Amino acid sequence: MKIAITGKGGVGKTTLASLLAHIYAARGRSVLAIDADPSPNLGAALGFPPEQVARIVPIAEMEELIAERTESQPGSYGGWFKMNPYVSDIPDRFSVEQDGIKLLELGEVQKGGSGCICPPSVLLKNLVTHLLLRRQEVVIMDMYAGVEHLGRATASAVDAMLIVVEPGQRSTTTAARIRDLARDIGIQRLFVVGNKVRDEADRAFILENSAGLPVLGLLPATPRAVEADQRGESIYTAAPELAQAAEEIATALDELVAEALSV
Ligand SMILES: Nc1ncnc2c1ncn2[C@@H]1O[C@H](COP(=O)(O)OP(=O)(O)OP(=O)(O)O)[C@@H](O)[C@H]1O
Ligand SMILES: [Mg+2]
Repeated sequence: MKIAITGKGGVGKTTLASLLAHIYAARGRSVLAIDADPSPNLGAALGFPPEQVARIVPIAEMEELIAERTESQPGSYGGWFKMNPYVSDIPDRFSVEQDGIKLLELGEVQKGGSGCICPPSVLLKNLVTHLLLRRQEVVIMDMYAGVEHLGRATASAVDAMLIVVEPGQRSTTTAARIRDLARDIGIQRLFVVGNKVRDEADRAFILENSAGLPVLGLLPATPRAVEADQRGESIYTAAPELAQAAEEIATALDELVAEALSV
């Protein structure tokens, strides 16, 4: 199963990604959690030990690896390089594992000029394609507010793209923009997940402002989300009410994938 999570900044993408990763791991599945945010923090949300998280080097910063695989000069952005670098050993070699969850950080490609086709971006693109098309685990991608890293070749491999919204116009407007970008590259199964829901009014707001997309689930607002962050605990263990609501989302996703396979 391949799940991509997007949405406006601060809506709770990382929170949801960390919850789903723990839930599937607890169900005995192998989970590969991909932090595709340029400023990664999924490891902390997952409750990975800070020393372990601090040691992770995002793939985009591995100059030697990028140069070796793309047959380019370390740190170079121009010249000739290989467009189909070998990447299949990267997930196992460079991820860190804890509680049955493997975590891989992609990092940020420094944009050189316009339309960056440079060795780091080519390596990442090939890596993401590999993760989505070839890996057998549950792959959960915590993304930026968009569909960066995804393209037409990978769109069909995404079983579900979850757009997280909070009860407010700004996040639902962003959701509509992401919906259009996702549809442009051919992503079929798009859903909204509402987060930080305080009451019935919030719930109604999200149901009425879901950019025309089905709402897969709603997560309650809770001080425990922030407390988990302060204490460096996993949200999954620190906020049982969030874990419970996310269980329902995980089950709905399982049903969706089973349905898609049976057609
Ligand atoms: N259900 C919730 N109730 C209360 N606070 C929440 C909830 N979900 C997330 N938060 C808080 O909102 C903030 C943003 O959450 P999170 O990091 O998951 O969002 P994000 O979309 O990944 O943000 P970014 O765009 O910066 O990556 C955090 O401080 C988090 O603790
Ligand atoms: Mg985040």
